[in-house]
Formats: sequence, C-alpha cells, structure tokens
Amino acid sequence: MTHELTVAVAKGRVLEEFQNLWELAGWPWPVTNGRALWFPPSSRAPGLIIARGQDIPMLVQRGIAAFGVVGRDILEEKGAQGVLEVLDLHIARCHLALASPVDHWPDGPVRVATKYPNIAHRYFAERQHPIEVVQLSGSLELAPHIGLAPYIVDIVQTGRTLSHHHLVEVARIMESSAWLIANPAFWRTHQEADVVYQGFVAAVTRLEEECQR
Ligand code: PRP
Repeated sequence: MTHELTVAVAKGRVLEEFQNLWELAGWPWPVTNGRALWFPPSSRAPGLIIARGQDIPMLVQRGIAAFGVVGRDILEEKGAQGVLEVLDLHIARCHLALASPVDHWPDGPVRVATKYPNIAHRYFAERQHPIEVVQLSGSLELAPHIGLAPYIVDIVQTGRTLSHHHLVEVARIMESSAWLIANPAFWRTHQEADVVYQGFVAAVTRLEEECQR
C-alpha cells in the first residue's frame, strides 16, 4: 500500500530501541544518515519525524504527525491534551526515582533538582511533604555534589549514572516506557491509521516473543 501517515519519534533512549520495533512491523528503517530528521511516507513505510521527546505530543496534537512515540515520563510531566494514548510499546523501559548521596527520606522541607518539576511536585504533594524544585535541563547527578540540591528526581535505566556519581535511590516514583500516541482526527478518519496501529501491535507481540526465547 502507499502510506500517507507519519510517525514522530523521540530522540535518544526511545529512538535507540524503536528501530527494531519499526522493522518488526514490516517497514524498512529509513534512517541512513544520522543528521536527517524527516523521512516522508513511501510505498513501503509510513513517514518518520525524529524530534525532541517534549515536542512529540504537540506535533501529534497539531496533526503534523498522525502518531507519536514518546516516553510515559514526558506524557506525565507535560500532559497529553488533545492526543489519544493508544498503546504501551514496552520499549525504553526505565523509572523515575528520588535519589541522594544517602539512603534517607528527607526530614523536613526538601530541595530537589529535576527535569520533571510537575511530577516531583505531585509526588511530594501526595505525601504532604514541602518541596522546593530547582529546575535543571541536564546533568542532574551533579546537583547534590555542588551544593545545588541534596536530592534529585531523575530517570534511572541501568542505574550506572547514579552509582557512578555515588547516589542511591531513596524512592521509586513511577515506571516509564515508550507509548504510541495518536491524533484523534487522523485516528477516526484515516483507514491507514488502523494499519499502522496493527503494525505496532504485531511488532510488540513479536518483540515480547523474542524476549521470552
Ligand atoms: C538519563 C538520566 C541519567 C541517565 C540514567 O539521561 O538523566 O543521566 O539517563 O541512565 P542509566 O540509569 O542507564 O545510567 P538521558 O540519557 O535520558 O539523557 P538526557 O539527560 O539528555 O535526558
């Protein structure tokens, strides 16, 4: 079939594992040059846009891409108004944790450095624990060592970054994996939307079978 729809996928952790899923869905991977970020739909595969994770919900909500692939962490942090959350892809699994140099729940009001201010605020509010958030866009693990904040809320995948910086997990906040999201209008009106969705469903099933072998 000739494809018309486009999938926007988040760079980094999600993109690294996404190629396998895309190929398991039966579509040739179009990325041959690390600098190219846009691949139009063709007779063989849907189109592909590679963008920052935090921009993926907006690209789907505006219909620039019919589908998006983005971490649950970003959907929880930024919200996902105007998009459908259609499938857990079970890739890019990680979790968000509260970490510190000492394995000790904060005694009183706590300063936390994070890229996830909304999740951090919600987590501490649910525990009625006062929090001051210092928003950083990266290198969070430095914060406790340079006197910026004694705690961080950050993504943990292998745990190597924490241990390399002599930090320990004090609490596990939420699990995350990549989700397929969709534009509601495309979902309702384009027959191809179901073809793409079914392609991902089949790919997730195959990936799980591969993992069990
Ligand atoms: C995250 C996080 C840690 C690292 C954790 O950064 O901020 O630095 O991954 O992974 P690990 O447990 O396997 O060591 P990410 O790679 O998402 O990059 P970013 O800082 O650009 O978001």
